[in-house]
Amino acid sequence: MIGGRATGPLSERKATCRAGSNIAFIKYWGVAGGAEDLNIPLNNSISMTLADAHTTTTVAWDDSGCLPEDSIAIDGEQLVGSSAERTVAHLDRLRALAGVPYKASVVSTNNFPMASGIASSASGFAALTVAGAAALGLRLDVTRLSAVARQGSGSASRSLFGGFVEWERGWGGGESEGNSLLDSRSVAHQLHSEDHWALRDVIAIVSTSAKRVSSSSGHRLAATSPLNAARTACVGAWLETVRQAIADRDIGKLGPILELDALAMHGVMMTSTPSLLYWQPGTLEVLQAVRAWREDDGVPVYFTIDAGPNVHLICEADSAAEVERRVGALPAVERVLVSGPGTGPELSDGHLI
Ligand code: PMV
Repeated sequence: MIGGRATGPLSERKATCRAGSNIAFIKYWGVAGGAEDLNIPLNNSISMTLADAHTTTTVAWDDSGCLPEDSIAIDGEQLVGSSAERTVAHLDRLRALAGVPYKASVVSTNNFPMASGIASSASGFAALTVAGAAALGLRLDVTRLSAVARQGSGSASRSLFGGFVEWERGWGGGESEGNSLLDSRSVAHQLHSEDHWALRDVIAIVSTSAKRVSSSSGHRLAATSPLNAARTACVGAWLETVRQAIADRDIGKLGPILELDALAMHGVMMTSTPSLLYWQPGTLEVLQAVRAWREDDGVPVYFTIDAGPNVHLICEADSAAEVERRVGALPAVERVLVSGPGTGPELSDGHLI
């Protein structure tokens, strides 16, 4: 059970969960053909769950029949359009699992800017899955919750665990088969707890505006890139190195692969049809600076970038203050957030509604 706490009584039908975002060291980019709705990835991915970039979500199911439709508010704004549809589709999954018709009120808050390359969908769908399931009294173990969260947003499957996490592709090559909500082949598991390694993600925010193409649409374009097959052919060896680097707490081994896969993923994005270009001038300014600090000044820091313009600088805790100071002084950087590894989702009584 999540947070070591039993789900609430059925009559309560309300639960609140806080889940951390995560930063991937080996990325999830691209879904298997024929399985787009299941979010079966093209490759395994490895991430660190973040302590200080999180989403808190309350789900209240209405069993009185008074609520005509699902109501979803994030950071004080009522969700509309495709984002609302995506959340309703996830509520449908939970309704199907519980066999109930209830509509839900969902209120959610992030402590970081949404849709800007800090994975709000990872923490958001992890928190929604855990709170929604708990409020319905569904007794699902964390692996099953990871399978359900994956269908809302692939990277959310990893936010079901704290510390250092690997999401297994789980299905054989080619087209995927089956369609069970609880099919647990493609799920995440913990490699090491949050206490294993005092790594830091120093996040350089160069833009807080929402991205034009969401990662969920982008995954469907990966196969159109001529570079995609080359990246997926290399990822097996990179995963092995990253697992070993994390086990050995070796930043010098982790860092180069971290940068390589971020650049490989952005190469796939840029060369897909249509082309996805998430970088802004400030992105490149940070990348150049990081390389110079490392090569000229010996600061052990490496970058990675998700589907957005902001840059995640990965370093050990003892260099974090220096990295934060340097990156905060760059003209392109609007804001800096720093996070270490965090726990998995936790249920609480601090309801938002
Ligand atoms: O879970 P999604 O659909 O938001 O995809 C996340 C994709 C990346 O953030 C770019 C990479 C990753 O593995 O987190």
